[in-house]
Amino acid sequence: MANQEEIFKKVVSHAKEYGFIFPSSEIYDGLGAVYDYGQLGTELKNNIKQYWWKAMVQLHENIVGIDSAIFMHPKIWKASGHVDAFNDPLIDNRDSKKRYRADVLIEDHIAKIEEKINKECEKAHKRFGDAFDRQQFVSTNQRVMEHQKQIDEIHARYADCMNRNDLDGLKQLILDLGIVCPISGTRNWTDVRQFNLMFATKMGSVIDDSDTLYLRPETAQGIFVNFLNVQKSGRMKIPFGIAQIGKAFRNEIVARQFIFRMREFEQMEMQFFVRPGTELDWFKHWKEERLQWHLSLGIPAEKYRYHDHEKLAHYANAATDIEFQFPFGFKELEGIHSRTDFDLSRHSQFSGKKLQYFDSELNESYTPYVIETSIGLDRTFLAIFSHALDDEQLDDGSVRTVLRLPAVLAPYKAAVLPLVKKDGLPEKAREIMDMLKYHYMVQYDEKDAIGRRYRRQDAIGTPLCITVDNDTLQNNSVTLRDRDTMQQERIPIDNLFMYLHNHIKPMMLK
Ligand code: GAP
Repeated sequence: MANQEEIFKKVVSHAKEYGFIFPSSEIYDGLGAVYDYGQLGTELKNNIKQYWWKAMVQLHENIVGIDSAIFMHPKIWKASGHVDAFNDPLIDNRDSKKRYRADVLIEDHIAKIEEKINKECEKAHKRFGDAFDRQQFVSTNQRVMEHQKQIDEIHARYADCMNRNDLDGLKQLILDLGIVCPISGTRNWTDVRQFNLMFATKMGSVIDDSDTLYLRPETAQGIFVNFLNVQKSGRMKIPFGIAQIGKAFRNEIVARQFIFRMREFEQMEMQFFVRPGTELDWFKHWKEERLQWHLSLGIPAEKYRYHDHEKLAHYANAATDIEFQFPFGFKELEGIHSRTDFDLSRHSQFSGKKLQYFDSELNESYTPYVIETSIGLDRTFLAIFSHALDDEQLDDGSVRTVLRLPAVLAPYKAAVLPLVKKDGLPEKAREIMDMLKYHYMVQYDEKDAIGRRYRRQDAIGTPLCITVDNDTLQNNSVTLRDRDTMQQERIPIDNLFMYLHNHIKPMMLK
């Protein structure tokens, strides 16, 4: 059984080998934490976007979508708090000259202790078999309890330093925990400093006179500043939402784990505007609805968990993350935040424009409260892709690599394969291609033996293979091979559309 590290390596190499994801600027040795989506990756990414857009915009009459510009007025980032507070605490190791996020060094240290707890649990599980009760074990085993106490103490010190912005305290914690640089192995650390994550650029023809702009670090602010435009032009009534998919940029210092943490990435965000006082009910609603969206992709529920925030940002009155079990552990995939009226109030204050809503039922004006759902598109791609990739052991002892993508997201919905390259079969297969290709992404392949072609389609996640053989010419039927079961069935060409439609139907509609 491959370990998690090997599985992750396989995910990265498979993504490259089959044209899903390439390192950016690869012929120039790449650019740190920036990636390009290849021909199949682009299809999968577009399908994820569409699945989200349909769930959020098309299926909700009170949610509309926008596409705001990446460049925005610099005051927006002052109002949002990003200029002053969108920082990471950084620390350098003097020997390796490597830079780290102080909080990540501490979190990695905690993860190592958690790993020890997991090992103890695994050992006990083996010993006790089915009778093993993890809950009971972790609350009674002496060694595990000591590890947990250590973790709790580190957490408490760490949270206290972060709350008080105590950078010396953070450095002291790193020293006290004996954390060493993974490269040099030494504890020769500099002081901790705050580092703003926004990329700055200039707008205008004369550099000296031009304004400093920031590449947006989130898409959300483009929604807030368009709140009134959308509300008035769309005659939207509260509660209503505005959704957006777009690029965001962050100068991440610890950019790693492939497309999990990138410097240029995409977000799918929705701000839901509600009456003050109703926000916690809506928060609960969106927390549940967003998890259902993830589960509708058919990935098992145990791969997801909520992480409710104990420490809230000053503007939030509730927050949770939906975490996913990536090959490198449970990590944030989506954030759901109850952001009060913070953003609209701040933009009112900084722009001098009143951003309020007149509620005709209450006969009063107020600044709406906001529930935000914010999901990383690239992280969702990684979650789905890594879960889908499987090396399946077959009965004959061989292994087939299969990408079990949800059919609705697969780059190609079907492959059309003439059994042989003669006897009029390619021509018949081309007819089927022409019939389907406007409606579905389908691929034609006539090269190599049919078994190899099936395997190629398995590896890129194509849910169905349509094989054209001599019988097809006689009775106008084809063989359909299912990617997951490898079962084959014969159906009339006339039924192909209906079959594809039913097979590919989004799971949220099934
Ligand atoms: N508007 C709220 C917001 O931006 P966030 O937690 O900073 O909140 C939301 O980001 C989501 O965006 C995260 O849950 C994650 O999926 C994704 N994300 C954030 N930073 C990322 C990065 N550097 N690379 C890839 N995805 C990222």
